[in-house]
Amino acid sequence: MEEYDLTNGVVYHGDCLEGMRKLEDGSVTLGFTSPPYFNAVNYEEHVEKLQGDKDRWEREEMSYDDYRDFLVERFEEVLRVTRPGGYTVVNISPVHWEGERIPLPFHFVGWMEEAGWKFKEDIVWEKPVAKDRRSGVLLQNPYPGYYYPSVVSEYIFVFQNEADDEEKNSIYWDRSEEEKEENRINLDDYQGEKSKNVWKIRQVAPGENEHPAPFPRELAERITEFYSYKGDTVMDVFAGSGQTLLAAQELDREFVGFETQKEYVDYAVERIQNENSQKTLGDI
Ligand SMILES: C[S@@+](CC[C@H](N)C(=O)[O-])C[C@H]1O[C@@H](n2cnc3c(N)ncnc32)[C@H](O)[C@@H]1O
Repeated sequence: MEEYDLTNGVVYHGDCLEGMRKLEDGSVTLGFTSPPYFNAVNYEEHVEKLQGDKDRWEREEMSYDDYRDFLVERFEEVLRVTRPGGYTVVNISPVHWEGERIPLPFHFVGWMEEAGWKFKEDIVWEKPVAKDRRSGVLLQNPYPGYYYPSVVSEYIFVFQNEADDEEKNSIYWDRSEEEKEENRINLDDYQGEKSKNVWKIRQVAPGENEHPAPFPRELAERITEFYSYKGDTVMDVFAGSGQTLLAAQELDREFVGFETQKEYVDYAVERIQNENSQKTLGDI
């Protein structure tokens, strides 16, 4: 598996399941990721489109059971490499398939519990603008039975790898007062929306990022600040354009990322290197 060693971490080109096998038990404090969308995006074809080999990209065919097995296998391995008391946070939303809206996030919580994760929090990421025009159906047919709200939300679920020893369950159990002080969170803008479980964050605008489905940096930064300390290792198993890894670097965490599409790996690595040289210049 190709490996890119960067100043604050490593990006691997390949399947995260195979890649995580290289990592030691408990070597990661926090995971943040957004899994590939079931039947929604065929990343290989998107890359071919980026390269100009294809005009459009198709949905990937996979059964829902196979998709569940794909995710469960990988999040079981995420559990193994997450330190007891550590967290993994997942951005996920319902998908549209064969004319139905599939409640993937709600199934996903059960799959995670079966895999050994403890459910901790549900945060709603609210986007200011809907991409779909579902709400228009009621405008055309203003009668009961035609209500299809436009979707402006995604879920952010927080899970913990609960430690056997209750005392060690908090990731704060072995942090010194000095370390806590060094990681004190600025609460100036906390009492607005950050203190609640609905976060209003602008989605990445078309053309702002080469990946077809990036989450905003702001999301990754909030999760990283709330659930890890400086120097901890933050992992994104489906790294895409590297938003989690960039947030980790910015906030002085170590990172490890996996991504199967070489084009996205190159894009993420380039951005990480550019931001690192700017950060280093800023520190001088
Ligand atoms: C929803 S996207 C993640 C986007 C990312 N959060 C960002 O902000 O750019 C999911 C990514 O997982 C990658 N992927 C799919 N299967 C994978 C696997 N088995 N191991 C690692 N990456 C995989 C896809 O190529 C895609 O880039």
